[in-house]
Amino acid sequence: MFGFQYYTPTQVVFGKGTESKVAELIRTYGGTKVLIHYGGGSVVRSGLLKKVTDTLDAAGIAYVTLGGAVPNPRLGLVYQGIELCRKEGVDFLLAVGGGSAIDSAKAIGYGMANEGDVWDFYDYKRKATGCLPLGVILTIAATGSEMSDSSVITKEEGLVKRGYSSDYGRPKFAIMNPELTMTLPDYQTACGCTDILMHTLERYFTNGGNMEITDALAEGLLRTVMKNAEILARDPQNYDARAEVMWAGSLSHNGLTGCGNDGGDWMTHKLEHELGGLYDVAHGAGLAALWGSWARYVCGDCLPRFRQFAVNVMGIAPEGTDEEIALKGIEALEDFFRRIHMPTNLRELGVNATEEDLATMAHKCAVGVNGAKGSAKLLREEDMLAIFRASR
Ligand code: NZQ
Ligand code: ZN
Repeated sequence: MFGFQYYTPTQVVFGKGTESKVAELIRTYGGTKVLIHYGGGSVVRSGLLKKVTDTLDAAGIAYVTLGGAVPNPRLGLVYQGIELCRKEGVDFLLAVGGGSAIDSAKAIGYGMANEGDVWDFYDYKRKATGCLPLGVILTIAATGSEMSDSSVITKEEGLVKRGYSSDYGRPKFAIMNPELTMTLPDYQTACGCTDILMHTLERYFTNGGNMEITDALAEGLLRTVMKNAEILARDPQNYDARAEVMWAGSLSHNGLTGCGNDGGDWMTHKLEHELGGLYDVAHGAGLAALWGSWARYVCGDCLPRFRQFAVNVMGIAPEGTDEEIALKGIEALEDFFRRIHMPTNLRELGVNATEEDLATMAHKCAVGVNGAKGSAKLLREEDMLAIFRASR
């Protein structure tokens, strides 16, 4: 068991109609001029953006708006946002949307609170010493960015997708109304559920110390998300299932399911970020397409955890060798992905990668992790390439 710090300063306001509290919350955290940042237009079509601007108008809070954060959000829009905020004297950021709008807002916040090029943080050249305060109205349960310290941005030049983590970037508040997720396409709901599972799985498959209480929370979360993801695949308007998944999304990436371990593995994410950068795939689908190949590659080096996962999470009978039980657990999670219409390899993801593409991704991934990374198994460039090849 390792020591840990658990820091979750975000005020969570959860339930039906909670978006009506947005003006009050912005005031509580000192916002007087707001940048409302959103994605490609779903919040315009759903009427949520209008609701938010009406609420701010009624409260007399000034704002400017900037849409256009795409999935795998781009650095160019971040620069545009920083310029707009400087020109308009913005002192508070409000992201209305999913991980992409939130991450883009976090990057704008770093750019506002620090001198120099904001990409330096994502390029691991230096650390931020602050971030403009940020609030969130969440519209998709997925990344956990509404409570996480992380932000992932893609630089157009070279298609480099990188994450930066800092406690300064944790939102001040997160408004979570599960009803707002009911307009999601089924594919995005399933992508979100996959990402939520993966944030806990990355922390679960380790060779470091573990805590029984953390395992119990993690295993409960995984079972709950799988159960409710299947309910949503049949009945997307089910409020209770939306609520279970939404809260799980935040808990899965705010640090709770990793307390006492060695920091986690995170290699499925690192490999997926290369796919997202190069092919612009949806993050959750990319994770599902890679996970089985990663799991089979590392399983032998992390057998006790894979066995425990198979029995406690996937309900596999503890009969046969540890290897057999572990493999059945991996197959059972892949079956689950198929049931919610997620891909389990690159072909199903719609990615037709050449050998050269795979080598490029493995190389960029190795550079991004400074040579090697992984707790279930330490992976170097040749291992990364082998996993990409197996996932074709
Ligand atoms: O852009 P709009 O028009 O809003 O449409 C979005 C987008 O097309 C749509 N959508 C969202 N809410 C909706 C909706 N459509 C209808 N009704 C709604 N209520 O769904 C699509 C996906 O949205 P996006 O924000 O891209 O999804 P997600 O939350 O999965 O974010 C993905 C990004 O976050 C990064 C990913 O790599 C990816 O770039 N991640 C961020 C993390 C973090 N900050 O902690 C951790 C994750 O591991 C991840 O890497
Ligand atoms: Zn993720």
